[in-house]
Order: sequence, then C-alpha cells, then structure tokens
Amino acid sequence: MPIGVFDSGLGGLTILRALQKRLPEQAFVYLGDNENTPYGTRDAYDVFDLTTKAVQTLFDKGCELVILACNTASASALHRMQVSWLQKGEQRVLGVFVPMIENLTMRDWGDNAPPTHTGLENVAVFATRSTIESGAFPREMKFRARDVEIVGQICDGLVDAIEAGDMAQSETLVKAHVAALLEVLPTPQSAVLGCTHYPIVEDIFRAALPAQTKLLSQPQIVADATADYLDRHERYCEIGTTQYFTTGEVEKVGPLAELFLGHPVRWQKV
Ligand code: DGL
Repeated sequence: MPIGVFDSGLGGLTILRALQKRLPEQAFVYLGDNENTPYGTRDAYDVFDLTTKAVQTLFDKGCELVILACNTASASALHRMQVSWLQKGEQRVLGVFVPMIENLTMRDWGDNAPPTHTGLENVAVFATRSTIESGAFPREMKFRARDVEIVGQICDGLVDAIEAGDMAQSETLVKAHVAALLEVLPTPQSAVLGCTHYPIVEDIFRAALPAQTKLLSQPQIVADATADYLDRHERYCEIGTTQYFTTGEVEKVGPLAELFLGHPVRWQKV
C-alpha cells in the first residue's frame, strides 16, 4: 500500500523529496491541506480536528501508514490521535518530531530507556508558534536526555513568506529570528529547524547561525528513520509512484509546489 505523507500545505514536500530519494521505489500519496494552511497559528483543538480529517482522507485512499510531515501537527495532535483517535489495527501514524530528538540524543526509534547524559548541552529550536507553545519538544527531550537547555524561537510570519515565494521577506525574517535567539543562547551547540517549510531557507539559517552550531537536516533524518521503520514493518512497502492531492486550488498550488520539489507534478483536488 502507498505511504501517506501529510502537511498543512507545501512544507511536507521537503520531507517527501527526501523520502523519495531514500526509498525510490516506494509508492506515496501526498496530501497538503492548503485550504486551511497555516496551522502554526491555530490552537491545538483546531490542529487536531484538521489533522484527523486529513489522515482519515489518506486512510480512505488506502494508506495504512501515514507520516505527519508537519511539526505543528506532530507536536499538537499526534499524541492525542494515538491515545484516543486511532482504532486498534494496522493503521499507523508517525510524526517528524521524535526522529529528530532521537537523532540528537543518539537513540534508536522507540528506545524507551530512562533519560541519560548524552553530551548534548543545549539546543535551539526554530518553529511555529503552535509547535513551540505545545511544549512537545522539551517534553520529548526530557524522556531521553538529562540537563539539556532548550531555547525555542517562534518564527512568526516565516511560513507565510515561504508559501508566498517571497525570498526577500523570508531572509529578513530568518535573520531577525536567529538574532533574537542568539541574544538568549549566543552559541547553540545544535539547532533544529522544527518546521518542514524551513529547509527551503536552510542556507539563510546556516549563514545567520554561528559556524560551530550543528544544524540538523530534518528531511534526511525522517527519511532514514522511515527506511529503518520499513525494514522492520515490510507490510507497509509497495512499489509505485507518488500521487499529489490538495484541499486547495490546484492552479495556485501547482506553481508554488515547484519551489519545494524543483519540478512540476500533477495535483488533484480532494
Ligand atoms: N509545515 C508546518 C510545520 O512543520 C507548519 C506550517 C503551518 O504553519 O501550517 O510545522
């Protein structure tokens, strides 16, 4: 069966691209909720309702494994979905948040041993308002690593600027948000781009951060973690191509998506 990949809009395409590169034979179905984007300024109830609706759409299209390629949905909705919404059975929903934390703390997927000292002292997290305010990053980190200082920076406006293809505004915003973070944490040991839109402006983040700060690539980490998961759960593998769906207007979404994918694809409205 194809693997579902969901995002509030186009940001998840940065994850999809890495998945397609890592798993070139695998069939995928991408769904962007462009009609309701952005999620990053919505409250957790709203994000939960929209995310469950979208995941159900992907289940209805035959996907039994869905990746929430959206940090906001992973941070605000995934835990509640797993506890109270997913039916017992073979359908699975995985987020993009925990693989990054497992990478930072050198844990394997699903390693639930008590927290240890990992050598990680501090980490800067750049994300949407909703992701930072969910507290999910510090919570998941505390399960795995001790004594890590986490400084979150809400990057208001950046998703809108990227979705609008406005690179000048994106650069101004990235520089301002990085400067604000460096006032609190002048030399982050590691930095996480905790929003799937931000890899589009990764070079600007890289240039604005101190040279010694390690910048994590979420798409690569998620692609590697998914490949590892599929090795252990072969029933979710299927050879095929990718289908692209949006809740928005195909005419608007198509040209913008090229910025994320680097080439045109055929979009269908759900
Ligand atoms: N791409 C989403 C994320 O990873 C956020 C975009 C939005 O605000 O909808 O958080």
